[in-house]
This record gives sequence, C-alpha cells and structure tokens, in this order.
Amino acid sequence: MTDDGGPAQEERRRPFGPWYQFPELEEWDLTPRPCSASVVSLIRPMELTDANILGNVHGGEIMKLVDTAGGLGASKHCGGPVVTVAMDEMTFLEPVYVGELVTVKAMVNETGRTSMEVGVRVEAENVRTGRRVHTSSAYVVYVALDRDGKPRPVPPVVPETDEERQRQREAKLRRAARLARKEAILKARAARGED
Ligand SMILES: CC(C)(COP(=O)(O)OP(=O)(O)OC[C@H]1O[C@@H](n2cnc3c(N)ncnc32)[C@H](O)[C@@H]1OP(=O)(O)O)[C@@H](O)C(=O)NCCC(=O)NCCS
Repeated sequence: MTDDGGPAQEERRRPFGPWYQFPELEEWDLTPRPCSASVVSLIRPMELTDANILGNVHGGEIMKLVDTAGGLGASKHCGGPVVTVAMDEMTFLEPVYVGELVTVKAMVNETGRTSMEVGVRVEAENVRTGRRVHTSSAYVVYVALDRDGKPRPVPPVVPETDEERQRQREAKLRRAARLARKEAILKARAARGED
C-alpha cells in the first residue's frame, strides 16, 4: 500500500502520539472488552548485541521485550497510552541463546479502575531444530493515562474461556496482595515517621 497521505494512512502513522492530536478521543470508550482483544505477539531474533558476558541473552533484554509487549496489550485494551506501574513474578526458567527466535505473548488478565494486569509469556525457538521452550513469564501492571498524564478509567475486561476466567481469578489475588503490601509498607513508614 502506498502512502497517499489520506486519512487512513494518517491514522496508521500515529497510533497514540502525540496524544493531543486526537481531540475526538476526549471521551474514553469504557465498553467492556474480551481478554482476547488485547492479545499481542512480538517475535524477535536474538542477536550478539542482546548477549550478557556469559554469551547468553541478557535478562534485561527479555524484560524489555516483556514490558514492550505488555504495554502494547494494555494500550490495545484501553485504547490509549499507558505507563508501567509494577512488574512482578518475572521468572527466568531457561536461558535464551543468541540466534534463537523469541516470541513474547501478552494479554490483559484483569482490570481495576485505572490499572490493568497483563500476563506475559516468553518462548524461545531454536530455528534449526524447531525446539521451543517456555523461558519466562511475568505479570505487569499498567495504568492508563489521560491527556494530562493522570490515571483515567479503563474498560472492564471480560474473560470468555475457562483459562481466561482462571487468569482473572488469580490476577485478583495478586492485585490484593500488591495493594496490601504497598499499604503495609506505607503504614510502617508512617509509624516510624519516615517518608
Ligand atoms: C502510574 C502512576 C501515574 C500512578 O500514580 P498514583 O498517584 O499512584 O495513582 P493512583 O494512586 O490513582 O493509582 C493508579 C492505579 O495504579 C495502581 N497502583 C498504584 N501503585 C501500585 C503498585 N505499587 N502496584 C500495583 N498497582 C499500583 C492503583 O491501584 C491504581 O489502580 P486502580 O485505579 O485500578 O485501582 C504514577 O505512579 C507514575 O507516574 N509512575 C511512573 C510510571 C513510569 O514512568 N513508568 C515507567 C515508564 S512507562
């Protein structure tokens, strides 16, 4: 498709930003959406520049891909820009090797008022043998921002399969644990007169 500069091309060129150029999106669409509508898959070959001093892929490179895929999933769900507020249970189950093809899949598990928990799974494939292994998983929380950079409401997510319902139930437990931990720390600091 050639870039004719028409409205469709213009819309494609600017997914989200600069955000202020979308006055028609002043009212957020809060219609509930299925988990499946937020699915994102990123596929990237691992290169020498992704390696750590052992010669394997650096964990930080994987974390960046996880955050990128998770952020895109959250943006897809809420239809706007998001920021990462928390990442937990990031696991590294197997090393990833230079030359492997990494697939990062993300999907929104659960929504709060302004936040979304995204589940992310990383797999590495040896392109010669076709062997594919699950190397990492993570749960990342994103907050949707309005035009002024303040948290804004997001549409509720609707699980449609048993697996998605299970993910939502477990996400609720993680959310309660995160918020309880944050509150306990703030309370303890306040009791000691600390910031
Ligand atoms: C994300 C941010 C806007 C939230 O601001 P805030 O003042 O804490 O806002 P609120 O208290 O209204 O919380 C907003 C949401 O974040 C959630 N949240 C806040 N702290 C959290 C934490 N530690 N863990 C999980 N969720 C958290 C709240 O539960 C709330 O979600 P809900 O509306 O679904 O209940 C602010 O912390 C920020 O700008 N952080 C920096 C983000 C950033 O730069 N990320 C890295 C680059 S993308």
